[in-house]
Amino acid sequence: MEKTEKSINKETPVSHDIHPLIKNRWSPRVFDEQMVSEEDMKTLFEAGRWAPSSNNLQPWAIIWGEKGSETYERIYNVLSDFNQGWVKNAPILLLTAYNTKNPNGNENFHALHDVGLFMATLSIQAQSMGIAVHQMGGVKHQDAKKEFNLPEDYHIATSAAIGFYGGDPDKLPEDLKESELEEVRKRKDQKEFIFKGDFK
Ligand SMILES: Cc1cc2nc3c(=O)[nH]c(=O)nc-3n(C[C@H](O)[C@H](O)[C@H](O)COP(=O)(O)O)c2cc1C
Repeated sequence: MEKTEKSINKETPVSHDIHPLIKNRWSPRVFDEQMVSEEDMKTLFEAGRWAPSSNNLQPWAIIWGEKGSETYERIYNVLSDFNQGWVKNAPILLLTAYNTKNPNGNENFHALHDVGLFMATLSIQAQSMGIAVHQMGGVKHQDAKKEFNLPEDYHIATSAAIGFYGGDPDKLPEDLKESELEEVRKRKDQKEFIFKGDFK
């Protein structure tokens, strides 16, 4: 049976009703100990694969590994100290990268945007399967690029920790435990960033 329960209940104060897959997604730093299967990971990647991208260039590349594998350790080693402090709770680690160039050799200005779409699409598929995705910008980008032999034109974008919801917050250091248990999620008000005309 699909696992969708969460040990931590977050309140998401929406100002308009939105789909529960979007409303209930959040980024935990602890995960259930259950491994995410290779088949489930392939389903997540399939969802990302069908994300839109500029000119359908699909500039993304993903490197991933499960806990216990050499790749998982190599990804762990290129994360920031802060992220290393919690990330081993996750059964899966991944890195996202993107091709900075178009086929004609010019800069693909939208490539980073498109990796974001890949991860957004993957995250919503994950949510439908009871799987949480915690994205991270805290990566030693140059080290990661070198470690995984990325071609010169590729840049590392992010990392992500993936696992089923339902981890034990007691596994976290006190400050992170506090934020894990925060009950109400926060966002800017729409009027701060939506304009029906000029900016502000
Ligand atoms: C591109 C990106 C980079 C992030 N970097 C980190 C990070 O390095 N470490 C971390 O713990 N969380 C990181 N986060 C998670 C955000 O802090 C989190 O998504 C945000 O606080 C909103 O919370 P929610 O996802 O639970 O709604 C990142 C998220 C994104 C999308």
